[in-house]
Amino acid sequence: MAELPAPVTAALRRLPTPACAYVYDTSALRTAASRLRAALPARTTVLYAVKANGHPDVVRTMASACDGLEVASGGELDLAVRAGAPRIVFGGPGKTDAELAAAVRAGALLNVESRFEAERIAALGLSADICLRVNRAGVAVTGSHAMTGTPTPFGIDENQLGTVLETLPTGLNVIGFHLHAVSNNLDGTAHAAFIADAITWSITTASAYGVNLRIVNAGGGLGVDHTSSTSIDLAPLSQVSVPDGLELILEPGRYLAADAGWYATEVLDLKTTHGRTFAVLRGGTHHFRLPAAWGYSHPFTILPVDDWDRPYSRPAVTRTPVDAVGELCTPRDVLTRAQPVDRLRVGDLLVFARTGAYAWDISHHDFLRHPAPEFIVL
Ligand SMILES: Cc1ncc(COP(=O)(O)O)c(C=O)c1O
Repeated sequence: MAELPAPVTAALRRLPTPACAYVYDTSALRTAASRLRAALPARTTVLYAVKANGHPDVVRTMASACDGLEVASGGELDLAVRAGAPRIVFGGPGKTDAELAAAVRAGALLNVESRFEAERIAALGLSADICLRVNRAGVAVTGSHAMTGTPTPFGIDENQLGTVLETLPTGLNVIGFHLHAVSNNLDGTAHAAFIADAITWSITTASAYGVNLRIVNAGGGLGVDHTSSTSIDLAPLSQVSVPDGLELILEPGRYLAADAGWYATEVLDLKTTHGRTFAVLRGGTHHFRLPAAWGYSHPFTILPVDDWDRPYSRPAVTRTPVDAVGELCTPRDVLTRAQPVDRLRVGDLLVFARTGAYAWDISHHDFLRHPAPEFIVL
C-alpha cells in the first residue's frame, strides 16, 4: 500500500464525515513537470494535456510549469486562455465552427484532423499555420487506446495525406504533423523509438510534399501503472535527436498529473455476501471511473479514523480480502477487488493514490445524483 504524504493525510483528517474528496498537490505537478523536462532532448516543448485533469488550479499550475497546454474542446480552450498559457495547441476530431474560430482568435495552433475540417477553417475566413494529424499506416507502439495504424476517427489516413496536402485551401499553411498514437505506454525504449520514427517519417513526408516542416508533435502516451508505483522509464527519451530547426512537441497528461491526485472516501458499510467481503464507500465509479473503464483493480491505502461517537456499534473486519465498491446501484461500481486488509472499520477512509489523471474528469458524475466529492488543492 502506498504511503500517504503528510500534507494529504492532514487535509483528509480535516474532512467532515462522511468524508469524500479529491486532493490535488500542485507541488507534485511541478515536480513531475521538471522531472520530465530534465529527461527530454533539446528542442522539445512540453504541453500539458488538459483532458487528464481540467481542475482550474491544476491547469493554472501546468500552464506555468510546462511550456503551455494541449486542449481538445472549447471548454478546455477557455480554461487554457484564462490560465494564461503561453502556448496552446488545439486537437480533437469534432471541432465546431465556433471552436475553430475561438482557437484561431486565441492564437492556438490547430491540429487539423480531416480534409473537411481544413475546408471549414478556410470557408470561415480564417487563415492559420496548422499541423495535420495523421493516422499512420503501421505505427507499432505498445499501450492502450491505439489511435493510429488502425481504423479510428483520429487524423487523416496516411494514404490520403498526399491528396489533402495537394488540395489544401488557401490561407492554411502546414508547418508540421501531429502523430499522437497511444495512451499509457510503459515501455520507455519503445516510446523513444516511436518518437524518433515520428521525426524521421515527418522529415521524409514533408520533403516528399514540399512542406516546410517546423513541428513534429508526438502527442502524449507516457505511461503510469495505476496498480503500482511504476511509471515509464524516461531515460531512453533523452537519446532521441531533434534536428536543428525542428521543434518536437510532446503533450502528456497522465504522466504529469497522475501522481498529484488522491481520491479518498469513507467506508459506509461492511458486509459479506456469498463469501466475499465488501466495503461500501461514500463514493465510487461516478467519481473515479478509471478502474471500471479499464477493468483493473486500483489499490487503496487505509487511513484509520479512530474517533467514533455515533449512536450505534462500529462494524469492522480483520485479516480478510475486501472489495472496495461504490454507492451506486450497479454491481460494476467496483474500484478494487480482493485487497487484503489487516483491519478495516466503518468510518475509516480508503485513499486511492495516482488519481490525479483521468479520474474525476472521465467519470459519470450525475448518475444517481449523489453529492460530488470535495476538491482540496494543496
Ligand atoms: C491528442 C492527444 N494528445 C495528448 C493526449 C494525452 O495523453 P496521455 O494522457 O496518455 O499522455 C491524448 C489522450 O488521449 C490525446 O488524445
